[in-house]
Amino acid sequence: MPPPPDNSIMTLEVKRLSTGVEGLDSLLQGGIPEGFFVAVTGEPGCGKTILSIHFINKGVEEGDKCIYVTTEESRESIVRQASQFKMDFQKRIEEGKLIIIDALMGRTDKWSLQSLDMEALVSKIIEAKKELGYGRARIVIDSLSAFWLDKPAMARRYSYYVKKVLSKWNFTILSVSQYAITTAESFGFGVEHIADGIIRFRRLLRGGELKRFIVIEKMRQTDHSRYLYEIDVKPGVGLVVLGRVERRVEDYKLPFEVMKKIIDAKKEMEKEL
Ligand SMILES: Nc1ncnc2c1ncn2[C@@H]1O[C@H](COP(=O)(O)OP(=O)(O)OP(=O)(O)O)[C@@H](O)[C@H]1O
Ligand SMILES: [Mg+2]
Repeated sequence: MPPPPDNSIMTLEVKRLSTGVEGLDSLLQGGIPEGFFVAVTGEPGCGKTILSIHFINKGVEEGDKCIYVTTEESRESIVRQASQFKMDFQKRIEEGKLIIIDALMGRTDKWSLQSLDMEALVSKIIEAKKELGYGRARIVIDSLSAFWLDKPAMARRYSYYVKKVLSKWNFTILSVSQYAITTAESFGFGVEHIADGIIRFRRLLRGGELKRFIVIEKMRQTDHSRYLYEIDVKPGVGLVVLGRVERRVEDYKLPFEVMKKIIDAKKEMEKEL
């Protein structure tokens, strides 16, 4: 006879933050666990920035202190994109609930970065948090991979640094990184291991039409969906999850042996640096 179940051990509750995209929350048992460092990756134009905008907007609605770091687009561009989905980021900035750190460079205001320097980024984020005040906070770094553009082998070290320093500040972080189509892995080796979660966007041309997909590749402490979902960006609404695709994560990942070869080669490259 098996021993009776031990009911004396309580399962500790995981607090979750809504992503702001209903269809995505339901794939994540309600959302992203508080304090997590989540990598968002995918090819261009798939919806990484739009997901980031939803995440920040939801945060502001829930009273979180919100910081959006933009390296690929200007602050104005993010505000304009949000406004297309009826989110008033300009008002949120004026209300002191949101700070957009512009790291596209060429700006000299208080909330701009003068160089893509890791330490400067982290200290600017901490300065922004102090300005926003006490309480739960959300950060988007769109994209973190911009900081290792000319030194990709630093990806893991940089991600680890950001996670380690910012986790002390009660931040839940979405860290966007580009996607290397050649190796089918996030641009920046090792980020996946450091991240508590990975949300991966994909795109495919099907029947002459561009289709977009999303898959949760990893989310610690979460019984998440392992299927690919078709998504769309709807005018006036933003990101929506349309439905499940009848393929599993394993069906489109590279075979284990191929991945192992790529990883071993990258490790060698790192050793040389
Ligand atoms: N107002 C809108 N209505 C409908 N679709 C839109 C709207 N605005 C943007 N899109 C769609 O969203 C796409 C851009 O998505 P997003 O900026 O999130 O991509 P991304 O993954 O961040 O790309 P990148 O890596 O280049 O930054 C556009 O290419 C377009 O297809
Ligand atoms: Mg983007």
